[in-house]
Amino acid sequence: MASLHARRFSSERAAGPPCGVPDTEPSKTDPGSSCVGESMTSSEERLKDLRARKAKVEVGGGQARIEAQHARGKMTARERLEMLLDEGSFQEIDGLVEHRCRDFGMDRNVIPGDGVVTGHGTINGRQVYAFAQDFTVYGGSLGEMHGLKICKVLDMALKTGRPVIGMNDSGGARIQEGVASLGSYAEIFFRNVRASGVIPQISVIMGPCAGGAVYSPAITDFVIMVDQTAHMFITGPEVIKTVTNEVVTFEDLGGAMTHGSKSGVSHFTAEDDAGAIDLARDLVDVLPLNNMERPPEKRTSDPIDRVCDALESILPDEPNKPYDVVDVIREVLDDGGFMEVQADWAKNIVCGFGHLGGRTVGVVANQPKVLAGCLDIDASDKAARFVRFCDAFNIPLITFEDVPGFLPGTSQEWGGIIRHGAKLLYAFAEATVPKLTVVLRKAYGGAYDVMSSKHLRGDYNVAWPTAELAVMGADGAVEIIHRRRIASARNPEQERERLTTDFNETFANPYKAAGLGYLDDVIEPSQTRRHLCRALDMLADKEELRPARKHGNIPL
Ligand code: HXC
Repeated sequence: MASLHARRFSSERAAGPPCGVPDTEPSKTDPGSSCVGESMTSSEERLKDLRARKAKVEVGGGQARIEAQHARGKMTARERLEMLLDEGSFQEIDGLVEHRCRDFGMDRNVIPGDGVVTGHGTINGRQVYAFAQDFTVYGGSLGEMHGLKICKVLDMALKTGRPVIGMNDSGGARIQEGVASLGSYAEIFFRNVRASGVIPQISVIMGPCAGGAVYSPAITDFVIMVDQTAHMFITGPEVIKTVTNEVVTFEDLGGAMTHGSKSGVSHFTAEDDAGAIDLARDLVDVLPLNNMERPPEKRTSDPIDRVCDALESILPDEPNKPYDVVDVIREVLDDGGFMEVQADWAKNIVCGFGHLGGRTVGVVANQPKVLAGCLDIDASDKAARFVRFCDAFNIPLITFEDVPGFLPGTSQEWGGIIRHGAKLLYAFAEATVPKLTVVLRKAYGGAYDVMSSKHLRGDYNVAWPTAELAVMGADGAVEIIHRRRIASARNPEQERERLTTDFNETFANPYKAAGLGYLDDVIEPSQTRRHLCRALDMLADKEELRPARKHGNIPL
């Protein structure tokens, strides 16, 4: 019997446990190891031994390095987890995992936990998995076991349908562990991809995140960066200088402002660690735990039939004058609450979360005060990704439309606006969550089709009386279709004006589209909230199927 046990045990060891974290060999330098195997005289001594081991786990790279972390304005991994999760809810796993590298003298420096703290806890009572890289241990660098600890958390999160929040503060692949480290990175990427669209994944960047390490956050749904302390880049300033002769600082190259406003890699910027953690908690609060659930409802005392008087006069009298669409969004949503995503990038489109009648909704809106609200490459990418996220996680989409078309120009055409614009079209067409669209003013050309139109299976499409649904604006249209007539007129200016007025009267209104059933209704702006809340209620149990397939081929 004993030998049977032994055989089973050894074969389990050979295969490694299902989580992917192989057993570790006892370390030569582990202070607790000396107790293992020696005869323990009492359970009290065993407890003492356990506590000594746990105490060592707690201090990571040691007090001096913890102080250095604080001196840089950064919290430690454990402090971050304590703040992220509800008080006392953090349950650590794999604190006793150690690296098993024997090269470069690594066997003389084994730190339990291996530079990443992993586990689970709750955020406002809802369960999540989380990990935080510990910069005090080998600069938070990711070795084989460090990586496999993160893999275990991702596996458990997927198995249990719980979101994952990763807090990154790392020098990247642990150089001493070579390809074993790269292997663990790829194991993480694979799991990020497998979990994509199944559980929400949030990355909080709170220090360096260099080299291939950036690709796990890039695959996750949201990236939050801390201003000044977070830096993300594939190749650092030194390498760039050597290869391209460009001189650039860490901050300019990959700081929070750069990724929040230029590259679109980051979705939120926080002033400090605490601010970033608050953002992660806020985000979890509006999301479902997984793709089989609905987002949680948020109680509100804001009546669903509240009249939005301010909307009656929100649009300027001249059709080409800008206004801030965020004012429209806030006026309509519950209690004026709106969490904008990527607020500083591709500002000509606004995306974000809010609530309507207590339900989480995703809002997409053209922003007339930036590039007149035109769709361009970045705006299409930003909104397409947001729409796909909402669709994956059962979040209804509310679209506010005021778009004069796609941005003209060679940089757009050569940059591939055709395939980028197609992503947004694809995303709206593919989405099966309730889709509600309000045309506020312009809905011109291809952009009319793209912005969650009836033809892409919008469920509730309405317009304000100020809406203009047409192939293009009157000035351009008259020049094209009446060029000869204007040229041969006795008074060309007068003729142009007459034809423009005529075009405006015929097309610059919502009634042609309403007459064709492309709009379900034309509504008074002050009634927008009431109409949207009712429609959302009606669509709550909407089901729409698409043909079975492996996956579509979105024009990336
Ligand atoms: C092992 C590392 C390390 C690494 C830092 N350390 N990065 N150890 N592997 N990648 C160690 C340092 O040796 C040091 O140990 C401690 O962490 C703190 O590092 P410092 O350099 O003193 O800190 P700081 O000045 O703040 O600089 C942080 C840093 C810098 C910017 C991250 O350390 C750095 O540039 N590291 C290398 C970054 C890098 O090139 N990584 C590999 C990228 S390639 P001691 O004991 O001296 O305190 C990659 C491929 C992944 O990641 C591929 C996936 C597909």
